[in-house]
Amino acid sequence: MRIQINDCSLQLTQGDITQQNVDAIVNAANSQLAGGGGVDGAIHSAGGASIMEETDRRYPDGCETGQAVISSAGNLSCKYVIHTVGPVWNGGLRGESDLLRSAFQNSLTLAFEHHCDSLAFPAISTGVYGYPMDLAAQNSLMTVAEFLREHEAPSLVKFVLFDAGAYGAFSYALENIAAVAINW
Ligand code: APR
Repeated sequence: MRIQINDCSLQLTQGDITQQNVDAIVNAANSQLAGGGGVDGAIHSAGGASIMEETDRRYPDGCETGQAVISSAGNLSCKYVIHTVGPVWNGGLRGESDLLRSAFQNSLTLAFEHHCDSLAFPAISTGVYGYPMDLAAQNSLMTVAEFLREHEAPSLVKFVLFDAGAYGAFSYALENIAAVAINW
């Protein structure tokens, strides 16, 4: 499924983020940039040790929740990995929504500054960090849609959803956003 926002595409696909043919992929990291399971584990395992060697050297203090940093991509076919830290879900009253929004905005800004024409996101915070999938879908997609409307870049932003449940939740949210975006 995809929608068009000005000259940009916002697309959903089901699969593995390490296998995408894009300029940059986004990692759902932790604030120590210490690696982990899920997307983080898949990216470091497919990309090789050079990614963490670089983030350890360039970002010794890690990355705060809601912020993002960029590295090269080791053995992956993309040029860059953008590492962002989504919020841990704590019931929704501890700023989770703003922090998730900011993780997406800061990742998009880094991609924009590095002239990435295409970018792939996972469903940040919806695994180990426990953010409810339908709320994450709505917030994440709306944040990206607003960025594309304002900056008219990158030309392609893909969400790579790992399973059918995530794909379904994001499809539902994207249909609602398409109805709003038609008036932009
Ligand atoms: N490609 C795309 N999506 C994936 C992949 C993959 N290879 N592997 C897992 N996912 C999906 C999960 O199903 C989930 O919906 O990515 C989403 C995010 O899950 P997590 O990777 O657990 O990320 P998050 O919830 O943000 O938690 C971050 O987990 O791995 C640790 O170091 C990481 O501490 C950090 C925490």
